[in-house]
Amino acid sequence: MANEHEKEAAARESLRFIQDGQVVGIGSGSTVAHFIRLLGDRVKNGLCIRGIPTSDHSGERAVSLGIPLTTLDECPEIDVTVDGADEVDPQLRLIKGGGGALLREKIVASASKQLVIIADSTKRVPVLGKFGLPVEVIKFARAVVQKKIEALGARVALRRNGDKPYLTDENNYILDCHFGEIADLDWLARQLSEMPGVVEHGLFIGMASIVLMAEGSEVFELRRGK
Ligand code: A5P
Repeated sequence: MANEHEKEAAARESLRFIQDGQVVGIGSGSTVAHFIRLLGDRVKNGLCIRGIPTSDHSGERAVSLGIPLTTLDECPEIDVTVDGADEVDPQLRLIKGGGGALLREKIVASASKQLVIIADSTKRVPVLGKFGLPVEVIKFARAVVQKKIEALGARVALRRNGDKPYLTDENNYILDCHFGEIADLDWLARQLSEMPGVVEHGLFIGMASIVLMAEGSEVFELRRGK
């Protein structure tokens, strides 16, 4: 429950980055669920924004709360995106994709002037990698990519949904890759991006502008050094 309070506190704090008239990227996951609810309240009270969701689930939730949505086709430039993270390091580098939405999340983040990450204190780590790094792969390439990632030293598991492989919103598979602490994030990101069949990986490097990190009853605003 303490976590849930922290998640809500971080989400509440993120509302001050949202201005009337903006296009707002809407992330995915349980922390963002608080953000969507609070944003829905603001919209009911007259805030005028258009949202671009990073997952079907977040889109459905937003619509159910009366938040108007738009698309990247209509608005390829997003003012601000609020999203969660699975791990955050001191340089505000992230692992994302625990909820399976990393591909759309990274596209939306890349189109955003500002990416605000909301997180509870369990997400703060000195070095990324304890959380299995999600890698989205096309089905055809699964075995080949898995072998290559295992050769880099990771224990790799195909994500499952009951007795079937988990499918992303883009109908791909996810490999959860357990590296342990990752010594060279840039190198690993390059290796993964260069593997044919990898659609996207969950390392978000140099993307978060601000992290709102909740710790107990406080929320700390962390900014990336230049
Ligand atoms: C969704 O794919 C993820 O990137 C989420 O942002 C991340 O998993 C954090 O989720 P929680 O807020 O549920 O911890």
